[in-house]
Amino acid sequence: MKALVAVYEDWGIGRDGTQPLVIPADRKFFREITGSSPIIVGRRTLEDFPGGRPLKNRPNIVLTRQDIEIEGAIVVHSVEEALEAVRDWGDDVFVVGGESVFNAMLGYYKRAYVTKIAANPVSDVFFPNLDQDPEWKCTDPGRELEHEGIKYRFCIYDRV
Ligand SMILES: NC(=O)c1ccc[n+]([C@@H]2O[C@H](COP(=O)([O-])OP(=O)(O)OC[C@H]3O[C@@H](n4cnc5c(N)ncnc54)[C@H](OP(=O)(O)O)[C@@H]3O)[C@@H](O)[C@H]2O)c1
Repeated sequence: MKALVAVYEDWGIGRDGTQPLVIPADRKFFREITGSSPIIVGRRTLEDFPGGRPLKNRPNIVLTRQDIEIEGAIVVHSVEEALEAVRDWGDDVFVVGGESVFNAMLGYYKRAYVTKIAANPVSDVFFPNLDQDPEWKCTDPGRELEHEGIKYRFCIYDRV
């Protein structure tokens, strides 16, 4: 299992249910890396997807504690149920947020694709700072890229 996230300098990942600053190339990167693999996503982050709908052409496992149905998604109510839903996919599964789901699944992903955006908008949700976690190592810092004056890089962290 892998995580995919875009973080600002303070490892903030969003505010008021959305991402205050998005790099278009990061959206493209998301599509390329996740391909047709299953994603595991929190109910709140799903609401921030285009049209509030699951992504097409791949299993969307949506975590919620509510008794609801979501068209185009597999609704699960616990981490255990999420793991069961992706059991046949091995490592080819992406946890894509938000904060509560990244935290709940932290023990399960071995790799994190972290888009580091050199900006500091105020966030109210965060990803764990992997630079301060001895269990994680940046194995590929990516090269520095730039969008409208904002520098960013696609980094890979692996659990050591
Ligand atoms: N920068 C990035 O890469 C990135 C990626 C994703 C999201 N984000 C940002 O993150 C923010 C959303 O994060 P969030 O933490 O507020 O919401 P979230 O993790 O997307 O969704 C939270 C909801 O998921 C359900 N849930 C979470 N853990 C669960 C568990 N263990 N069992 C059952 N259900 C569970 C609950 O749904 P119910 O309330 O329905 O019970 C909970 O309210 C937004 O600002 C978004 O833009 C950023």
